[in-house]
Amino acid sequence: MRYLTIALAKGRLADHAVELFEKIGITCEEMKDKDTRKLIFTNEELKIKFFLSKPSDVPTYVEYGAADIGIVGKDTILEENRRLFEVLDLGIGKCKMCVCGPESAAEKLNNHELIRVATKYPNIAKNYFFDKKRQTVEIIKLNGSVELAPLVGLSEVIVDIVETGSTLRENGLKVLEEVCPLSARVVVNQVSMKMENERIARIIDNIREVI
Ligand code: PRP
Repeated sequence: MRYLTIALAKGRLADHAVELFEKIGITCEEMKDKDTRKLIFTNEELKIKFFLSKPSDVPTYVEYGAADIGIVGKDTILEENRRLFEVLDLGIGKCKMCVCGPESAAEKLNNHELIRVATKYPNIAKNYFFDKKRQTVEIIKLNGSVELAPLVGLSEVIVDIVETGSTLRENGLKVLEEVCPLSARVVVNQVSMKMENERIARIIDNIREVI
């Protein structure tokens, strides 16, 4: 039997994902050691390997088949737009992709003024403004702390994830438009889905039962 490889997005989702696999009997003690610098964790008995990667790299590993299965946020799936099957919504890490800004930006947004949009998600922002709303905007790519942009005059609005809304509140910003709901998803490589169908289907069914 060959190893099945599972890619987990590092960060907020990783602990949830490890817990989920534990619940269905796929355990990996080594992975819970917070101090380890190891990159790959193996369950020899079940012939399963896990690795943690940057969230935005999970769809890449899955598209190329370096991982058979991935656990990653819908935001990353939409942004990376890789060829893979999205097979299950885990319902964890629920949040929303939103257009946010100061109250004063609402009118500019509604009047279709040529505004600047700062975001970590340029593809999602382009898709939303250009394809869905047919609105011309200037998109500025950032890598984090995106809420800073309208505060220091880099952009009028941002496209970013809102979970509790406290980052917005503490910085005098508001949700102006909702782009889409987000949560963690299970994704599968397209070839693995055929070649390892039985094992993968069993894992997905088991996960479905515990969520
Ligand atoms: C995310 C997101 C928002 C914040 C939303 O940032 O980009 O900034 O969380 O959460 P809230 O609505 O509960 O305040 P993250 O902490 O992942 O870091 P980043 O700013 O570096 O992207």
